[in-house]
Amino acid sequence: MMKRQKIAALLKTENPIENILIKGWVRTKRDAKTFSFIEVNDGSCLKNIQIIVDEKTKGYNEIKKLTTGSAVAVWGNIVSSQGGGQQWEVQAIKIETISLASETFPLQKKRHSDEYLRTIAHLRPRTNKYGSVFRIRSELAYAVHQFFREQGFRYIHTPVITGSDCEGAGELFRVTTLDPSSAMISNKKLNFSDDFFGAESNLAVSGQLSAEMFALALGDVYTFGPTFRAENSNTSRHVAEFWMIEPEMAFCDLTGNMDMGETLIKFLIQFTIDNCSEDLNLFSRFVDKTLMKTLENIIISDFIRLPYHEAIEILTQAKTTFEFEVAYGSDLQSEHERYLTEKHFKKPVILFDYPKTIKPFYMRLNEDDETVAAMDILVPRIGELIGGSQREERLDVLEKRMTESGLSRENYWWYLDSRRFGTVPHSGFGLGFERLLMLITGISNIRDVIPFPRTPGNIDF
Ligand code: 4AD
Ligand code: MG
Repeated sequence: MMKRQKIAALLKTENPIENILIKGWVRTKRDAKTFSFIEVNDGSCLKNIQIIVDEKTKGYNEIKKLTTGSAVAVWGNIVSSQGGGQQWEVQAIKIETISLASETFPLQKKRHSDEYLRTIAHLRPRTNKYGSVFRIRSELAYAVHQFFREQGFRYIHTPVITGSDCEGAGELFRVTTLDPSSAMISNKKLNFSDDFFGAESNLAVSGQLSAEMFALALGDVYTFGPTFRAENSNTSRHVAEFWMIEPEMAFCDLTGNMDMGETLIKFLIQFTIDNCSEDLNLFSRFVDKTLMKTLENIIISDFIRLPYHEAIEILTQAKTTFEFEVAYGSDLQSEHERYLTEKHFKKPVILFDYPKTIKPFYMRLNEDDETVAAMDILVPRIGELIGGSQREERLDVLEKRMTESGLSRENYWWYLDSRRFGTVPHSGFGLGFERLLMLITGISNIRDVIPFPRTPGNIDF
């Protein structure tokens, strides 16, 4: 049996090749009297390969029936193309239909809106644009591991089911085997001691607390996995299930944390430019004409580092009317973040030292007793891409902050233990993988960079 070859590899050839086998899906077909052109795509790259089928080709009589979306196998020779537009094409010796697509295949040769393609998310990876998105997504996931591995980090698989709420925002999806209907009929309160884990449990909003335990053992670690938030916000930057990259570093302060975030973002952008140029080019041509300029600007810029209170001053003096008011002590909205990074500084901005009242319990309290060693990295078009902090390593201060935040010390006994046995300064952050993809592709809706988006009211596919 002959092995199929991938179109991406074949198109890179410098010489004609005899006797190859390609398998893929028909994108278009043009029939002439004695021959046909078929454009086949196998997903290995953006480009299709052009197949010439004529009366000498075995199976030629079959191809009249071939519809867009059908799957085919083609045996033939790679020859230099006579027509313009491509260097190589396949002169087919034999063609076989693996399966005919029904005429109702929705992706016929015309442009479809992103909104429509979301309703057929099971088919959209077969379009040029979404094929490119998901190839870049795959390459970037690999790049994340390469980056951390080269820096001596260990990859930790933190649990998806947890009993804690790291961010303390209460945006939790409950995990239970209790039957909700019987609990409601008897009008009793749910008794979690009868539940599977014997306690309230939920899907993780972050792997951080677990990662901290491993940083205090293995030094530099990271997690990269799915994360869940039941926040009912229908925005273009929020999904209920997303992927987060979370490094956690022992013996690292806030400055080291900022340096790591800035280096990581630049590395991932440069990696895409170096390794995904064909796919990236599609976005700079058809999605955002300023994309390459934005990306190159991020790579060459030193990120601005600005205390939260100075950001508030800039925003209150801004000659822009914001939908949400700006005031010291309130969290920044996306419009404020974007003003700072897009209009005011025109480059990425790292905000730090936020008021403790708007940040979670684990962030390290500063000398002023008012602010914590938090940092958010804001980038053009997205706003917040990274959120992180130096962690509170002092047991007494941490306990006080937990009490203030209404958290039970008993539930977090193991977390507090880490501050009893060899506690050290340590820091980390979370980078939203989908927001990174939005930044790099210029795509403006987060639903379009994740295979099957999970948002309020949507669980199809
Ligand atoms: O700022 P967040 O909430 O930080 C944490 O969860 C920390 N525990 C991370 C850490 O220090 N290890 O989330 C981190 C990032 C955000 O900056 C954003 O990019 C992304 O995760 N993010 C979301 N992405 C998509 N949809 C959502 N609903 C998101 N919520 C956060
Ligand atoms: Mg945040």
